[in-house]
Amino acid sequence: MKLGTALTPNATKAMLLGSGELGKELVISLQRFGVEVIAVDRYPNAPAHALAHRAYVIDMTDGKALKALIAKEKPHFIIPEIEALSTSALVEIEAEGNCTVVPNARAIQLTMNREGIRTLAAETLQIPTSSYAFAETFKELKAAVDNGIGYPCFVKPTMSSSGKGQSMVTTDHELIAAWGYAKNSARVDTGKVIVEGKIDFDIEITLLTVRALNADGVVETYFCEPIGHTQESGDYRESWQPQIMTSQALANAQQIAKKITDAMGGLGLFGVELFICGDDVWFSEVSPRPHDTGLVTLLTQVQSEFDLHARAILGLPVNVQLKSPGASVVILSPIHAQGLIYNDLEKALSVPNTDVRLFGKFEAFLNRRMGVALAIADSADTARKNAAQAANMVVITTN
Ligand SMILES: Nc1ncnc2c1ncn2[C@@H]1O[C@H](COP(=O)(O)OP(=O)(O)OP(=O)(O)O)[C@@H](O)[C@H]1O
Ligand SMILES: [Mg+2]
Repeated sequence: MKLGTALTPNATKAMLLGSGELGKELVISLQRFGVEVIAVDRYPNAPAHALAHRAYVIDMTDGKALKALIAKEKPHFIIPEIEALSTSALVEIEAEGNCTVVPNARAIQLTMNREGIRTLAAETLQIPTSSYAFAETFKELKAAVDNGIGYPCFVKPTMSSSGKGQSMVTTDHELIAAWGYAKNSARVDTGKVIVEGKIDFDIEITLLTVRALNADGVVETYFCEPIGHTQESGDYRESWQPQIMTSQALANAQQIAKKITDAMGGLGLFGVELFICGDDVWFSEVSPRPHDTGLVTLLTQVQSEFDLHARAILGLPVNVQLKSPGASVVILSPIHAQGLIYNDLEKALSVPNTDVRLFGKFEAFLNRRMGVALAIADSADTARKNAAQAANMVVITTN
């Protein structure tokens, strides 16, 4: 594998589609190999913009605009960080054969719509998932619930992320509100919602799974230690690594992750979301890119999820070894305002073995993720306590 020099004619160029906090860390990992990075987002001064060699603001759901920018920049790698993209443009660009869409356009297309990925996992690959149905009308939704899915269940837009438009429904009379919410909050209205039976899990995990070339140049699958996490309103609040589980559950989790990532193909890191109950494992969804719960790996692994993604993409060998147990706790904005001030960081960072990442987002709204507190310790439990303590000590004000 050869790498060129950024800003010269032989540069190895990567274009990030989405320049949030995960993109920002990925820019750092790529630039450590001297890669020339172009960061794209829908709004100016996104977290990764300031770190990249060049920054652009375009509507990435606009296929024409996306293709024009790619034609201008001629990147070797196109690395989606978000789901709200013109995937048909990526399919066309991949077909032209001049660059690699990471991990590939099909995987990006499948995972942007819950129908694509759920059908592949449950029906084609026969992987255990919650019971589910798709509905185009309220009548269809009600029939699906009455005829088997039952309560409690989750109603979600087929195209959405971070819990948007999603609700848990426990009784019949809440169903209509859930239908309306899912229909009105979808990123793109596909005309369909998904309803899923609720899985009663002990714990939910992200199994970071890497498809990378080994020393012989052959694609191999590597698994990081499982990351346990808690979610509120469909958004992650806290994650820790390693999540201890039975050896049977771990074997099942790895088998499911292998199956789904084999089916996606390409090179890169994937975040496989799984529900665990005793030895049993259910597949929930997969991101063909670094996962927000994986921010914990900035401290816990020899190579963070961003380093792993960068290396896998560039065709370099990876090391998924855990360095120390650790945890991450999100720092959320309590207000809607611009130009927040983060106070008392010296107190937060006096908690043993902690660190803080502030994403530098220009605008905050209520509960927007503005940063993360990280901790390592002898056990994930201690790290969780310390990370929570550090996160709580950061006081956000506007002046
Ligand atoms: N069928 C289910 N059974 C039990 N819990 C569920 C189910 N579906 C969703 N959840 C809960 O809601 C959370 C968010 O669901 P999901 O991952 O599908 O949403 P999302 O919008 O894609 O979120 P994100 O983009 O943050 O991953 C899950 O992590 C889990 O805690
Ligand atoms: Mg999820």
